[in-house]
Amino acid sequence: MAAIVVFTPVDASAQLRPLVGDMLENLNALDRIAEGLALENWDRIEDASRGLRARAIRMRLLDLESLRMDRSQDAVWDAFLMAQEQAAREISLAVRNQDPSAVLAAQKSLVGNACLGCHASFRDPQSRLRDSVLYMTTFLSSWQDMMRGMMIRDFELLRTRASELAALTEVVGTDEALEEAFGLGGPSQRRKFRVFLSAVTDNANIMKSAAEEEDLATILAASNTMLEEGCVACHKKFRR
Ligand code: HEC
Ligand code: HEC
Repeated sequence: MAAIVVFTPVDASAQLRPLVGDMLENLNALDRIAEGLALENWDRIEDASRGLRARAIRMRLLDLESLRMDRSQDAVWDAFLMAQEQAAREISLAVRNQDPSAVLAAQKSLVGNACLGCHASFRDPQSRLRDSVLYMTTFLSSWQDMMRGMMIRDFELLRTRASELAALTEVVGTDEALEEAFGLGGPSQRRKFRVFLSAVTDNANIMKSAAEEEDLATILAASNTMLEEGCVACHKKFRR
């Protein structure tokens, strides 16, 4: 039981490449702002807004060259981050005034002036949005829904997402995906990769069956094993 505290989805995303970790948190902030508006939970919005601001400040200190980007674009980079910071300040002000339409207006300028603007200038879809990353984004969102299903005892959600995850691991494990998305050429590398992958498949299948039985103890144990022997172990070995 105690081990579950060590392996949470938060820990999984903490080990991402620096920029992608920040970006997944940016995306999560948009979700939390929408949830906060829907539930009239001002604290949740404020929390998301603070995170957006802190990340913008931190990201201004990044060396563009170390992110394989053109250092001469530094001022442009900073301008988008200032737009993120500014929009986050407006969101916080709107929270203080408990003004939902001001939150929405600030969120619109956040998305338009910061997120989409910066992506148009800096995200090179060819080299940056790799297939491996797309697969992993789906892994992460399945995992998050499975945890949510476990927490709120929504066994149908858990069952559906666990079986989707199991199916996706089959796709990822094909020779084509291993070569094209993950760049794994040699047979010994593929074999190792597939061992980690099957830790995900097997435990997703266990979680799926256990969801049908509404057996929380088994679900919990399998989720821990999946994260430890699948996600975390594979990342240790294969994430650059
Ligand atoms: C200053 C520039 C900048 C700003 C501002 C910015 N992004 Fe990004 N974002 C990037 C770059 C560069 C990438 C590509 C990262 C990579 O692939 O290594 C990216 C990638 C992403 C991704 C894809 C991550 C993945 O799985 O590949 C998401 C989602 C994302 N950003 C969300 C957001 C959201 C939401 C906001 C606004 C709240 C935002 N970003 C603001 C620069 C920015
Ligand atoms: C068999 C190996 C393997 C398994 C199992 C695995 N991953 Fe990954 N994961 C990778 C590799 C390799 C990368 C780096 C991809 C890249 O940057 O090209 C990665 C990257 C990621 C990323 C970051 C994506 C990005 O934008 O850089 C997330 C999030 C992620 N994995 C989530 C998960 C979760 C959640 C699980 C378990 C349910 C999981 N992974 C299981 C190999 C694996």
